[in-house]
This record gives sequence, C-alpha cells and structure tokens, in this order.
Amino acid sequence: MPTFYLTTAIDYVNSRPHLGTAYEKIAADVIARYKRLAGFDTHFVMGNDEHSQNVFRRARELGEEPLAYCDRMAVEFTEVWRSLDVSLDDFIRTTEPRHRTGVQELVRRMTAAGDIYEGHYEGWYCVSCEAFKQEKDLVEGLCPIHRTRPDWLREKNYFFRLSKYRDALLAHFEAHPDFLVPEIRRNEILRLLESGLDDISVSRAGQAWGIAMPEDPASVIYVWVDALINYITAVGYGTDPAAFERHWPADLHVIGKDITRFHCVIWPAMLMSAGLALPRQVFGHGWLHLKGEKMSKSLGTIVDPLEAAQRFGPDPLRLYLTKEITFGSDGDFTWDRYEDRYNVDLANNLGNLVSRVGAMAEKYRDGVVRPGGASDGRLAETAREAAGSYAHQMDAFALERGAAAAFRIVDAANEYIAGTEPWALARDASHADRLSQVLFDVAESVRVAAVLLLPIIPRSAAEILRRVGHTGDVQDVRLRDADWRGQGERRILKGDALWPRIVAAEGARNEVPVSRPAIVAGGAGRQERQRNHPVEQQNGSGDAASAAPAAAQEAAPAAPAPAAGNAQITIDDVMKLDLRVAKVLTAEKVPNSRKLVKLSVDVGSEQRTLVAGIAEAYEPDTLVGRTIVMVFNLKPAKLMGIESNGMVLAASPDGGTPTLVGFEGEVPPGTRVR
Ligand code: MSP
Repeated sequence: MPTFYLTTAIDYVNSRPHLGTAYEKIAADVIARYKRLAGFDTHFVMGNDEHSQNVFRRARELGEEPLAYCDRMAVEFTEVWRSLDVSLDDFIRTTEPRHRTGVQELVRRMTAAGDIYEGHYEGWYCVSCEAFKQEKDLVEGLCPIHRTRPDWLREKNYFFRLSKYRDALLAHFEAHPDFLVPEIRRNEILRLLESGLDDISVSRAGQAWGIAMPEDPASVIYVWVDALINYITAVGYGTDPAAFERHWPADLHVIGKDITRFHCVIWPAMLMSAGLALPRQVFGHGWLHLKGEKMSKSLGTIVDPLEAAQRFGPDPLRLYLTKEITFGSDGDFTWDRYEDRYNVDLANNLGNLVSRVGAMAEKYRDGVVRPGGASDGRLAETAREAAGSYAHQMDAFALERGAAAAFRIVDAANEYIAGTEPWALARDASHADRLSQVLFDVAESVRVAAVLLLPIIPRSAAEILRRVGHTGDVQDVRLRDADWRGQGERRILKGDALWPRIVAAEGARNEVPVSRPAIVAGGAGRQERQRNHPVEQQNGSGDAASAAPAAAQEAAPAAPAPAAGNAQITIDDVMKLDLRVAKVLTAEKVPNSRKLVKLSVDVGSEQRTLVAGIAEAYEPDTLVGRTIVMVFNLKPAKLMGIESNGMVLAASPDGGTPTLVGFEGEVPPGTRVR
C-alpha cells in the first residue's frame, strides 16, 4: 500500500487555537482523509511548538510553570482538534523527550558537517514571530505582521552556514518544480534565493526555556530550528530508526504563507547539512481573514473555532472552509456568509435531497429501491464526470474544486427530481418501473456524493451513506466506491433532518427559526454556545416532517418537495402558503439582539405577535402603522423566548439589509396575498 506522511505547522501555545490556525488543520485533515480514501497508508501529524518566549511569558503571567502550562494547553488544543473531527495520527510536543533527543542529534550532525559556528548577533528580534528581523523587514520600525516594535538583541549566538546552501536550494527548486506550491509562493522564495542568503543565528543566549545546544548548555537552540525538527522527531529521528525509515521523507508539509521561508529555505538547508532527504512538497496556504484582517490573536481579530463548530456541528464549518476558500489563497470568514452557505449547501441542497430520497423511498417503495429498467443515464453520467474531476482536483489540493465537484452531483439529483416529478409518476401505475429507476438513480447519486464528501464532512457523509443503504465500516470505503453502481437493491432509511434551515437571531433574514441539526458537535461548550445564540429549537423531536412548512427539509413526497436551486414548484405548492396583509400596531426591539424586532400586528380577524429580523434596517417607531405582508399559516416558533406567530416578508439581498414588502395604496388588514 502506498504511504503518505502529512504534517501541519505546529502551533504556538501562548493562546488557544483560533479559526485561522484551525483552518490549516481542517484543510490538512481533508487532505489526510482524502489520501486514506484514495488508498494511501496515511500518517498525519500535528503538534505544539512550546519553546517560544511568548509561551514562557504567558505561563509566567498566569503564575504557572511553563511545562505545566504547556501540558494544559496540549489538552486544550487536542480537544479542539477532536471537536473538529481532525483525524490526526500523532501529536508531537517540542518539550517531549523524543523531540529533544532528535533535535540535539540533528544539530550535532550539522555541527559535524562544519555548518555551525560561534559568533555574535546584534539586531532586531520580533518575539511574536520568533524571528530575527533586518531593518528592511520593518515598516515604520514595527514588525509588519504583529505591528509591534521588535527587541534589539546583542548576544553570543551560534550560526548556521545557510549561505553555503543557496545554490543547492536553487538547484532543488529547479529540479522539483512542485516542491513549493502554489506557484506564487514558489516565486517569492525563488526571488529570495536569487537575492542571496545570509547565515542565520540558531541559538539564543541567557535563556533557560528551550533545548540546550549539544556542546553548550548555556545556549538554547533557536525556537524555529527546534520546531522545524519536529517533522522528523515525530517519526522517530534519533529514537526509532525503523519508524524514521518507514515515514521519512514527508510527502507534504501544510503551512501558512507567512512561514514558507522557514520551511523552504532554512529547513531544507538543515536537512541537506545533516545529509537527510528533503520533504517532497510544501503547500503554503493563504490566511483566513476576519473583516479584512488576518485572523490573529495579537491583532485581536479572532473567531473561536469551537464556537463556529458548535453553531451547526463541525461538518458545516469544515465544508465552509473547504468549499468557500480557494486553498492557497486568502479567504474570509463572516458569520452571515457561514449561515448563508449552511442554508444553501446543506439545508436546501444536500440535506433536502437526503430527506426527499428517504421520504420518497419509504412512501413509494417501502424503503427499498431497485433499478426498474432502462435508466436515461443522466445522473450516472454526471456522477462519473464529477467523481473523475474530484479525484483530479483533490490530487492537486484544489480542495474547493473537489468539494464543488461533489456538489455537482447533489445539484443534478435535485434538478432530476424536479424534472422527473416522482410524485406524478407515482399517481400512474404504468410508470411504476420508471419511478423505481428514478428513485434508484437519485439514491445512487446521493451515495456517490457521500463517498466523495467523506473527507470534507466525515460525520454527515457517513450518516448519509448509512441512510442510502451502506452497511460496512465507513473506514473501509475507498475512492473506487464512488464508481456508479447501476445494480442491486438499497434499503433507504429515513431520519431526522440533517441540517434544518435556520435563521439565526443575529444572522439577518426573517425566516424559519433554527432547529438543531441532526449531526452536531459533541464535546464541551455546546450548552454555552446555545445560550449565547438566541435561537431556540423549533421542535424537540427534530423531525423534519413536523418542522415549519417553509423549512426546505420538509420532504413529504405526496406533494412535490420544495425546490432546490432553480428547480420549479407547482401552483399547489404556492397555494400552500397563506400570505396576508397585516398592519403593525406596536414595535419594539428585542433585548440583547441586534437584528430582531417584536411586532404586534392586526391581521383583520385577530392580532398576532411576530418576531422579525429587520431591526438593522428599520427603527421600531417607523414600523408602527405600516402595512406589511406576512406568512399567516407558519407554525409558531420561539425566537429569543418570544413566540412568533408568522413571518414577515422582506426582500433580503445576500449580505444586505432587508426591505419590507408593501403596497402602493391602502389595503385592509387580513386581505389574502396570492
Ligand atoms: N510555531 C510556528 C510554526 C512552526 S512549524 C515548524 C507558528 N505557529 S502559529 O501558531 O503562529 O501558526 C501556526 C500555523 O497557523 C501557521 O502555519 C500559520 O501560518 C497558521 N495561521 C495562523 N494564523 C492564520 C490565519 N489567520 N489563517 C490561516 N492560517 C493561519 O507559526
């Protein structure tokens, strides 16, 4: 079986992980899971970088021993990774004995090669970067990344003859055009190499926190040199030669674009000096931004990954980060967009499809679908094209395109349902075979899409596979299982709505309130998150069929299911909505909510209370006396503890503020809108 050794950067532990650092781990996990799916014996290693001065200072600030502090943070970090379903095989900490042994061994070999010499360093040092800076690196005297003034150092240091390796590095880049991807990063490093390399300092004097230089206990090894070596100590360098032989060289280091110089200049030169093989490839991903700024603790622009995962469970977050951000480029996270994508990709599209397949299979075929005769082959063709493109894109780490390919199958299946109208076929016994085939083809599409989505949304994809009749261990599923299987019998299971359509109280449009997704994160903090997010479950059962009528998850196939994408609905569907004119009697902002407003309205025959997400666009006073349109037959739901009996209609542009639907002239309350 081919092997694949994959690593991420190891994190500084002076603060908890944020969504930017989590982004890297999730993306790498998607790759690791994809490689397993593709049949590789995959070894996926992550870890913590503990010998940083910032870590030492943070521990002291908290009155803790540095090692005890690091022990505590290791628990916190691994807990976050576990909650995000990151499937790491090993977690290395730089304070571990296996690491210390390997670091000292490597430095000894570099020394034996004549590449380490004693000298004096005088210059700038940014503790947040843990990097020596030259005057030209600073912007107005500040570190451009952390916007802080670096320290001025004068100390005895050991130096590494990095300059000696410039030509060898250039030759390596030339011989291995894919050593560093994407190309933009490769070009940056090539320019740097072409401009020449200075030797670098590889030790710090007068510090106790770190790994001692082998022959000089008064100096500790520079934290970056210490940290980079994790990639070999994690697989036994200096402690377990057989394991090292098995795993090294790494197939892929996944790192952020800010640290490509360390990984593609210093690290390979260190390995060359020690006579070890170089990693095969480095992928320098972009930054996750929040409001246009790099997500960073020191800049104060962070989102807690657990909070983001607890919103809907880890899978919607994983999907967002994989599908919405071009892997290799910078990308944005906003709560509004995250919620929009949840509704579009999961609630309306994939979740709706799974619900419809379950409901229709049960209603028309007692839960068992079989081919019914000649298939028109349309879905099979889409699935084949998409699966081929998926593998191609994932092999190139174009994760967003891989995800998009899988969703092409989902889109096609939803459109196919709308086009073939199984509910209409069911009304005519002469179409029985055709109906069987349609149901089978749609179920098979769902199965293929779920196989492809396993690396991205592992929990949900496993559940979807179970619902479309997969019975084996999901760990054994391989990419070849995404081949279209036009034969056989499938037992289709109905289940709770995987992703009920939501409207978050702080999330904008006045739609159906949230109910809990069927698949959510376990782990600590979920209760807390639910308290913080002022949305309440619509129904305790989580049963899609009893959710609000407008919920796209509703899948009762007696009437056509709600349409996804551009699929069409019939007049019967439209007539299910009881829309009425109402007049606003009172309006007040809902406490602790930016977007919600509580309205009492006159609907002719009665008064109703509504909660609407329009507070950012309308001052409550301006609403009183206004004529609006509401959904009259919407099942009541609680928002921020207030029962809302209906829904206000508004034009709600993506990312914009809502505009209420209204009339040119006077229309009496209670008038039906149709
Ligand atoms: N400890 C070093 C790495 C040593 S690897 C031998 C380090 N740590 S870090 O905690 O600052 O960053 C860890 C990883 O997270 C890096 O790859 C970094 O680029 C990445 N990211 C930090 N902030 C990020 C974003 N806002 N967005 C995407 N990745 C981010 O550097």
